[in-house]
Amino acid sequence: MDLGQIEKEAENSISLVKNTSDLEKWRIKYLGRKSALSLFFNSLSKLSLVGKKKQGQKANTIRQFLSSLYKEKKIDIESNASFSSDFIDITQPGEKMRQGHLHPLTLILRDITNSFQKMGFSIIEGPEIETEYYNFDALNIPAGHPAREMWDTLWIKPEHKNQKSKMLLRTHTSPMQVRFMETHQPPFRIIVPGKCFRYEATDASHEIQFHQIEGLMVGENISLSNFKAIIEEVVEDIFKQKVLVRFRPSYFPFVSPGVEVDIKMKSKIKGQKSKVKDEWLEIMGAGIVHPDLFKRAGYANNRWQGFAFGLGVERIAMIKYRIDDIRLFFSPDVRFLEQF
Ligand code: PHE
Repeated sequence: MDLGQIEKEAENSISLVKNTSDLEKWRIKYLGRKSALSLFFNSLSKLSLVGKKKQGQKANTIRQFLSSLYKEKKIDIESNASFSSDFIDITQPGEKMRQGHLHPLTLILRDITNSFQKMGFSIIEGPEIETEYYNFDALNIPAGHPAREMWDTLWIKPEHKNQKSKMLLRTHTSPMQVRFMETHQPPFRIIVPGKCFRYEATDASHEIQFHQIEGLMVGENISLSNFKAIIEEVVEDIFKQKVLVRFRPSYFPFVSPGVEVDIKMKSKIKGQKSKVKDEWLEIMGAGIVHPDLFKRAGYANNRWQGFAFGLGVERIAMIKYRIDDIRLFFSPDVRFLEQF
């Protein structure tokens, strides 16, 4: 019988013992009356005196070692009993759960798109990387046209020299007017929410990236007064109060006439000591779709009319939440985000 082997086995297995009943099983196996060690002691009588002494001492040391292991483990288990995993100290203060929430831009985007959806607009999306053709030429802004100056552009390095159309990061969502009309016949009403990019120095009211919601409604006899009615409805839905809407003449090559749309709140925004009341605030560019765009889409002559608009999403959020710096939307400042 290899006593050394038994000792090693006993030592290894006690580390797995976690409770009193397992410890008792361990004791019976290694220290009990029928354990290998006890049987060994019984067999000593058959040996000579010298043999008895030598083997007996060795077995004794092992037995002492195993009983000390046993005692240690017992104390260990007993002292841990009050902290065992099923013990709950109900007097301990709880751990505060921090819950995240949607970003203010996501909230406002959802608000605005919901309002338009209620009025029958479908939501369409388009590519953020555009060709020069869709972003400019197809919108009556050919190379060299002074209107290109209105959109400082982030161009994408061509992959090879002979690339036909130059690529860019779209400067507005208007290219989707063209893309949509290429593949759809009127009547329709759509909005296109999405990210836009401009090569600009950033300050409190300019960011290199921002969001627009493009709108396009085409049908028979669609006029600017239809547009005004819809915008009034949407803006009142977003701000939950009566709002005045006014048009100022403006110029965009893909609409005629072109306008800029301002709004004015009739009362304070809830919970804000806001100056916003009685102030005219610009929220979008818009106008009646230029006949050139219909021609490019292959629509029947003089049959259709429509309006288009490009709404600044950050503008709306800044007015609604009284945010005075557009850069905060893209900053990781938790103090800003926690206000929403
Ligand atoms: N795309 C224009 C801009 O970014 C806004 C606009 C959209 C104007 C649709 C007219 C019609 O400034």
